[in-house]
Amino acid sequence: MFKANIETDGGIKTQAESTKVHYLRISVTDRCNERCIYCFPQDLGFLSKKDSQLSFEEFYAVVFHGAMKHGFKDFRITGGEPLVRKGTLSFIRRLTRTPGISSVRLSTNGTLLGYYARQLKEAQIAGVNVSLDTLKPSLYKKITGGDIVPVLEGIEECRKVGIEPIKLNTVLLKGINEEEILPLIDFAAEKNLIIRFIELMPISYTTKISKENFLSVYQVKQRLEKGDELEPLEKKWGQGPAKYFRMKSRNVIVGFIGALSDFHFCDNCNKMRLTSDGFIRPCLGNHLEIDIKGFLRPTVDPLGLYKSFEWALQKKPPEHSFREKYSPGRAMTAIGG
Ligand code: GTP
Ligand code: 5AD
Ligand code: SF4
Repeated sequence: MFKANIETDGGIKTQAESTKVHYLRISVTDRCNERCIYCFPQDLGFLSKKDSQLSFEEFYAVVFHGAMKHGFKDFRITGGEPLVRKGTLSFIRRLTRTPGISSVRLSTNGTLLGYYARQLKEAQIAGVNVSLDTLKPSLYKKITGGDIVPVLEGIEECRKVGIEPIKLNTVLLKGINEEEILPLIDFAAEKNLIIRFIELMPISYTTKISKENFLSVYQVKQRLEKGDELEPLEKKWGQGPAKYFRMKSRNVIVGFIGALSDFHFCDNCNKMRLTSDGFIRPCLGNHLEIDIKGFLRPTVDPLGLYKSFEWALQKKPPEHSFREKYSPGRAMTAIGG
């Protein structure tokens, strides 16, 4: 019945052998209230049926198991947009109160932060990452389909209640938001935020990477270096793959997430993912995944969960396959980035 755990890696060194995997990203929903051009598929056929979505009780069973049996201690709540699902806040509160869990963070489009910021702070969130690809309302609308005003208000509210760090995520879209790079950096500097520039990845049905739409973080860094000095920093503001620099004259921290142009991007990968419909996925850029719903329903099967985690850890590839004509099997919004 449990075939996966008897397969071997054929002697190939897996990522999990070299780096301790202790970070789990949990996509609590594949639904979203925005429609980013690089993320959300136009065809809604990818949305999972309501009853295949894990309940928060089931998510918690997986987290508890991961923390107790496999040493997972850092968690990030993602989506879709995690705050559109009722119960996400209570789930975060429950996680931060669980012994053995060091950090719980949130990746959000920011639209609902105005409402949730104070409660997230009270729930002891260890930081929020907010998508912001432009400061121009019209361009924001074009990229996301939504309204920038609540997002800016949400960021303001997070600052007000003292959530730290607040990091902006800007996906680089050649010819679309290139002119926004410096204004966004200035915005981050003024508000004392961290900003990260993210290379477009081929994880949506709407986006194929091409010369026309791809701008590498390497190119952006070179451009920025013409006007300022970028001092490399050892410190990381989170658990993810970003590399951080201080822009000296502006005194702002800028991060780069270069999954395609950085050939060492996967070197220290420490994470796995849990999808909202109950699959453990060892790597964002690899189609391998294992369905664990059968070990959660009708009751929790600890041995099944244990073997699933072990399988996923063993199968964790040394790097993603985005450079190999990757075409998405699941949309970004169903995996959570
Ligand atoms: P922190 O470092 O803790 O802030 O987390 P993070 O940067 O990993 O989280 P976030 O959800 O903000 O993700 C930012 C971008 O990094 C998104 O585009 C993610 O898809 C991407 N990303 C995060 N982890 C990985 C990874 O392991 N592989 C790849 N290819 N992309 C990743
Ligand atoms: N490539 C790179 N980043 C993406 N994100 C969503 N889709 C893509 C993509 N195709 C980012 C969002 C969000 C983060 C969780 O993932 O902008 O900030
Ligand atoms: Fe929604 Fe985030 Fe995807 Fe945009 S990037 S469609 S906000 S999940």
